[in-house]
Amino acid sequence: MSDLGFEHVYKPGPQPGAPTLLLLHGTGGDEHDMLPLGGLLPGANVLSPRGRVLERGMPRFFRRLAEGVFDVEDVKRRAHELADFIAAAATRYEFDASRVVALGYSNGANIASAVMLARPGVLRGGVLLRAMVPFEPDPAAAPAEPLLSGTRVVISNGESDPIVPAAQTEHLARLLQRAGADVEVHWQPAGHQLMPGDFAVAKNWLQSIR
Ligand code: MLT
Repeated sequence: MSDLGFEHVYKPGPQPGAPTLLLLHGTGGDEHDMLPLGGLLPGANVLSPRGRVLERGMPRFFRRLAEGVFDVEDVKRRAHELADFIAAAATRYEFDASRVVALGYSNGANIASAVMLARPGVLRGGVLLRAMVPFEPDPAAAPAEPLLSGTRVVISNGESDPIVPAAQTEHLARLLQRAGADVEVHWQPAGHQLMPGDFAVAKNWLQSIR
């Protein structure tokens, strides 16, 4: 489907009221790439959009200036666009907008955490695979109460990832925790590529949030 602002695939689960798994691909992926991972949350609806930014022909969810250097204004704008898409898709496909969890890899993980920080409540939680800090929230703009209480996040990153230094992972975890999220971090003996341990973490975590 190409409407609602994003090329996307939607696959309804068998039961009304099911949770919805939002699949977010990495740089150069598309709406089809992550579909096999939909099976990690059996019975869920699956919503899989394609990132709208092109970097030398490769789809992404936001612009970057160089590897690991993000265009922060674009990240925030695109996070709002994706949040609006999720709300529009919930209306169109009649899924429960309060039961959307993300499963994102790399650039897809980064837009998932950006949506959490920019539009708290749109995602109930997420599995962030090879995730970085999408942007630094403005501490002066933060309200006294955490905005992400009730939001659950699991991060699964690689111990020897050349793109995501360990300090980034820890920083992201702290930043989400400061906003009130419940955050788990898992380390894989891996670089930026995913490995079986990531899928095991994702599967266990997704089954625990049903
Ligand atoms: C990004 O968002 O740029 C990533 O984490 C790295 C990548 O997508 O290759």
